[in-house]
Amino acid sequence: MIKVGIFGASGYTGFESLAILRKHPAVELVFATSESAAGQKLSDLYPVAWDIPLIPLADAPLDRVDAVFCCLPHGASMPTVIAARQAGVRVIDLSADFRLTDAQLYQKWYNVPHEAPALLSEAVYGLPEINRARVRETNLLANPGCYPTSVLLALYPLLKAKLLDPAAPIIADSKSGVSGAGRKPSLKTHFVEANENLSPYNIGQSHRHVPEMVQTIANLGGNGEKLIFSPHLVPISRGMLSTVYVSLADDLSAAAAQNLYTETYAAEPMVQVLPTGQLATMAHTQRTHLGVLSVTWLHPRQLIVCSSIDNLGKGAAGQAVQNFNVMFGVEETLGLL
Ligand SMILES: NC(=O)c1ccc[n+]([C@@H]2O[C@H](COP(=O)([O-])OP(=O)(O)OC[C@H]3O[C@@H](n4cnc5c(N)ncnc54)[C@H](OP(=O)(O)O)[C@@H]3O)[C@@H](O)[C@H]2O)c1
Repeated sequence: MIKVGIFGASGYTGFESLAILRKHPAVELVFATSESAAGQKLSDLYPVAWDIPLIPLADAPLDRVDAVFCCLPHGASMPTVIAARQAGVRVIDLSADFRLTDAQLYQKWYNVPHEAPALLSEAVYGLPEINRARVRETNLLANPGCYPTSVLLALYPLLKAKLLDPAAPIIADSKSGVSGAGRKPSLKTHFVEANENLSPYNIGQSHRHVPEMVQTIANLGGNGEKLIFSPHLVPISRGMLSTVYVSLADDLSAAAAQNLYTETYAAEPMVQVLPTGQLATMAHTQRTHLGVLSVTWLHPRQLIVCSSIDNLGKGAAGQAVQNFNVMFGVEETLGLL
């Protein structure tokens, strides 16, 4: 059995990770942490019957685990990841702390200096559909953000085939459920503010998920600077849909566009491409760990790709467990389907 600890089990992604891992046939859960609820049980915080004790982060027995899931806010994750790596433990970090390879860029977007720039070169950005071989080898997995997962899955086939027009904008219009903002309440996520509303926020190139998308698009040979990203908050608990408008450098027929997506993801267990004529909706993936895509052909040089994930599933905990499975060489879908 692979021994696992979860940092931040009281939060949404930590709880979701724990919900998968407690039933995972290759995993023994060793510890789960919370600062505010240390000493309580998970059943005191969520409507579940699992008597899993919550311990403070400082008491986590790193010498008794093979891997940890860090489900902490950015900034708070850094020292925990550093301690785990010093203890020789493999890390799956769900925060943004190890996603950007450039420490200066991290400081620019997150307003704090990076505490472990040397570890950034060790970290692997974990989208298994794009870089499974590197995920397999790494000891420090930077799990992608939810919005970047939905947008990058939509762009990957075109980037891989070098079909995107490098001079044209890539427009990603994205919608997220409120759990994307975490469990701690705020005015923005207050029921009265969020309910019956649809709010754009940090639109254009100002959301913190922009640099990791730009970085990944560039790593795949594209022009990430052309990305225009507009996230929206929708009044649902969980779910995410990105509608991505792209221009192509060469003509592509409708059938070739559909084939490109179908073939790129044909062997992928966690990504499905809908047949021509169907559109991906949030309902396709809510409470699953899948990504579901649809391709709409406008004309030979213009496509619209709809990309659906659950922000806590393929957008966070589901992808984290998928990466964990790849890292530990067990069946990639174990615990997820
Ligand atoms: N929500 C999503 O859809 C989503 C998707 C992808 C990635 N992420 C990323 O995943 C991470 C966790 O997000 P979340 O939505 O699960 O947040 P959350 O619901 O607010 O949970 C945060 C967790 O971190 C703990 N925590 C907060 N501050 C801490 C500190 N200073 N030291 C130690 N522990 C601390 C909290 O513990 P206590 O409150 O119990 O003390 C809680 O367990 C974030 O980095 C987020 O950006 C979230």
